[in-house]
Amino acid sequence: MKHVRLGKAGPSISTLGLGCMGMSGIYGPSHRADGIATIHAAIDAGINLLDTGDFYGMGHNEMLIGEALKGVSRDKIIISVKTGALRDVAGGFNGTDNRPAALKNFVTYSLQRLGVDHIDIYRPARLDPNVPIEETVGAIADMIKAGYVRHIGLSEVGAETIRRAAAVHPIVDLQIEYSLISRGIEDKILPQCRDLGIGITAYGVLSRGLISGHWQKGDGQSKGDFRAHSPRFQGKNVERNLALVEALRQIAETKGVTVAQIAIAWVAAQGRDIIPLIGARKVERLEEALGSQAVHLSAADLAAIETAVPQNAAAGGRYPETMLAHLDSEK
Ligand SMILES: NC(=O)c1ccc[n+]([C@@H]2O[C@H](COP(=O)([O-])OP(=O)(O)OC[C@H]3O[C@@H](n4cnc5c(N)ncnc54)[C@H](OP(=O)(O)O)[C@@H]3O)[C@@H](O)[C@H]2O)c1
Repeated sequence: MKHVRLGKAGPSISTLGLGCMGMSGIYGPSHRADGIATIHAAIDAGINLLDTGDFYGMGHNEMLIGEALKGVSRDKIIISVKTGALRDVAGGFNGTDNRPAALKNFVTYSLQRLGVDHIDIYRPARLDPNVPIEETVGAIADMIKAGYVRHIGLSEVGAETIRRAAAVHPIVDLQIEYSLISRGIEDKILPQCRDLGIGITAYGVLSRGLISGHWQKGDGQSKGDFRAHSPRFQGKNVERNLALVEALRQIAETKGVTVAQIAIAWVAAQGRDIIPLIGARKVERLEEALGSQAVHLSAADLAAIETAVPQNAAAGGRYPETMLAHLDSEK
């Protein structure tokens, strides 16, 4: 596993990160033992970046990571935590609270659940419309001075917010959706990050499983599965999107690799500053994702992929309309 510096001021991280969200229910039922085995297999393979959110499973995800990291040298792992999203007992989302006093409270609980004395990268999951980004970043900068946090990241914010945040304190990365079928960052957000030396940790690289090559129409209907309500997975949209996957499969087969490996390798090929976060919940999926590291995409391959899945080819938005409306990155 290769390592790169995240942004111009960040830590050294593996060229693939493991996103742990799916281990705490967002994609239907998940199994604790599978999650822990996947985290251990990722570390054994040289992945050092683990991404979580304090609201994933309402604390469950951080406790799972804490359990998996028992006995693992703290210095070997870069833990990225998102915060500020508010949940209810039933799992509903109730907005965002990025006030400095709230963040000081949230970080205290995260450290306890993870069982660590510091978080490597701490980031607001969404922009809080009621709190200037300068105040949020300033509060995390105070945590850095106090030793509880090492670096500041952002998530799903637009170019102007990125610029304002970076004027307060160096930002190491922006976490944002980026894949063959979600290319919205290319116009303004990616150039702004590059201008400021901010890395990208890309999520949804497989569009939540849709372009993994394993998805079939009718999957993902279990209670609490995000995809049961996501526009890209509905009716005619999913049929059109799966036709794109079949076009991609032809390229994958020619190269003797899988569709998921092509999709992950495509994101990685867009720049050394872009790190795919893999949402594997099981060791076999992780192993498939690790295989993407050996996939070299030539200029001809990239052109063939572009023809198979042209920009804006996806049918349906990447989030339901009500959720898109809260994304600063979409404004
Ligand atoms: N900042 C944000 O707003 C934000 C939002 C979402 C996610 N994230 C972070 O990004 C991480 C990854 O996001 P994501 O869940 O959208 O990722 P993703 O990799 O696009 O999708 C994960 C889904 O793809 C399936 N899959 C099929 N083949 C796979 C393979 N070879 N490797 C990995 N997954 C495969 C998974 O497996 P199975 O269903 O078979 O287990 C899972 O259901 C999350 O865990 C989270 O840490 C951040």
